[in-house]
Amino acid sequence: MEAHPFATAPADSPTLDSLPVEPLLTSEFDADPGGVYARLRRTHGPVAPVGLMGVPVWLVLDYREVLEVLRNESVWRRDVRYWRARAQRRLPPDWPLLAGYEVRQTMFMDDEEHLAARQTHHAAMRPFQDGHTPQGWELRATVARYADELIGMLAAESGTAGFADLGAQYTRPLLLMVTTKLFGCPVELGDELVMDLWRMLDGGPDAGPATGRALAAMTRLAAHRRARPGDDLTSYMLLADPELSDEQLGRELFMNAVYLNDITGNMVLNTLLEVLRGNATVRRSLSAGQLGETVNRAALVNPPVANMCFRFAARDVRLGDFWIRGGDIVSPSAAAAHRDLIAIGASHMVGSTVSTRAHLGWGAGPHQCPSAARELGGMIVTTAVGRIFDHLAKAELTLPADQLPWRSGPVVRGLRLLPVRYELTGSVGRGVGGGPRWETDAAVGEPVVSGGDGQQVKGLLGALRRMMFGTR
Ligand code: HEM
Repeated sequence: MEAHPFATAPADSPTLDSLPVEPLLTSEFDADPGGVYARLRRTHGPVAPVGLMGVPVWLVLDYREVLEVLRNESVWRRDVRYWRARAQRRLPPDWPLLAGYEVRQTMFMDDEEHLAARQTHHAAMRPFQDGHTPQGWELRATVARYADELIGMLAAESGTAGFADLGAQYTRPLLLMVTTKLFGCPVELGDELVMDLWRMLDGGPDAGPATGRALAAMTRLAAHRRARPGDDLTSYMLLADPELSDEQLGRELFMNAVYLNDITGNMVLNTLLEVLRGNATVRRSLSAGQLGETVNRAALVNPPVANMCFRFAARDVRLGDFWIRGGDIVSPSAAAAHRDLIAIGASHMVGSTVSTRAHLGWGAGPHQCPSAARELGGMIVTTAVGRIFDHLAKAELTLPADQLPWRSGPVVRGLRLLPVRYELTGSVGRGVGGGPRWETDAAVGEPVVSGGDGQQVKGLLGALRRMMFGTR
């Protein structure tokens, strides 16, 4: 890749608007994104013009070019105000992806403003980062306990052997419960929040209102914790930067909620899938306790942030076989770059020296996932996956792996569901993790929790509430 620091694009080089583009988000992309990336690469080289819901975007496909865009912030800016088509009001007024990008928070800032905001996140997450602080230790114990309780609930609902969707019955509620705990929410965050985050990320027709609802919920939480500080991330963010208004803090929490629920949730499901696929190496590495390696492998094969958030060119620059004009929009694709990396790894030249750790699942450069957040996300994923395989004597997919339904948006790719046939080990019936015992009340067929004081809570919601808040 050549650097042309002060060059301008030759007048006869094609502009993004002048090129024919193929729409990216098709049913083919849903089923086989790798095939689509490969075709785009053959046709256009390392950078390809594509259509995203009617708007042309440069999709960056090769590892080297993706790294360049992620790392070089003087050329590739995050602030949406650099986008020429937006500044010139040439976007469709209801373009569904704009709502998310107009939310001004850390991810869409540059330079000093970005560094300061990132520092606030870092300071606020530090107490939870590892198990050496009381907060970090408690969070770890809580994630393991929630996971155990959900597995116990599965046993109560479906029996010690049966069928389950590890998305809806395990991963999604687990991440919601963890968010509620970490953020210090006074009431549980419902499924509706997750659905709103999905609606925004996928750019559906109601992305705008969904973004508004999720932001409003997080702003209310910010106001609540300002009035009643606690031992939670929201309160620590205020401690790190007391100048944050409720609206600003709400926006930062909103972004964290996306990472914690959708991205971390997809990482849990993708790692579970890697193990369930029956790949012998993966199963062996799990039994040898190398869960971290399995997570890296899952991130390489299926990174949840498949296509990173947009960057905007600060000036004309050559990338791949094209001249990108100042103000153009680019989307660096981790998923496509990983195909490139896997191919490099398979070549004679590099051989086994390409590590699964070279994946871009956490991003790269100044906007990569902050180290404290990576620790946190990694801990949640390994705990969630580790606990479930601790308690499953047997588990197998009920659909062939290539028929599993995926949700492929402009940014995120994740499993819609993960259906399994399972058999639990005996430990679940005896009460896992030292938590309450779960039985089925034969008379009503609903899960029943036997608390230490003998009081019982019936029904799924009551049980969830009890797990999270100890209400009876
Ligand atoms: C396994 C789970 C996770 C994965 C795979 C992941 C991945 C990523 C990626 C790829 C980026 C960069 C996006 C880009 O450059 O366009 C990022 C940024 C970020 N992540 Fe994570 N993340 C995870 C968990 C978390 C968690 C749990 C939190 C917080 C609670 C978090 C907070 C953040 C923040 C604040 C940024 C923005 C940093 C910036 O713009 O400077 N992440 N993450």
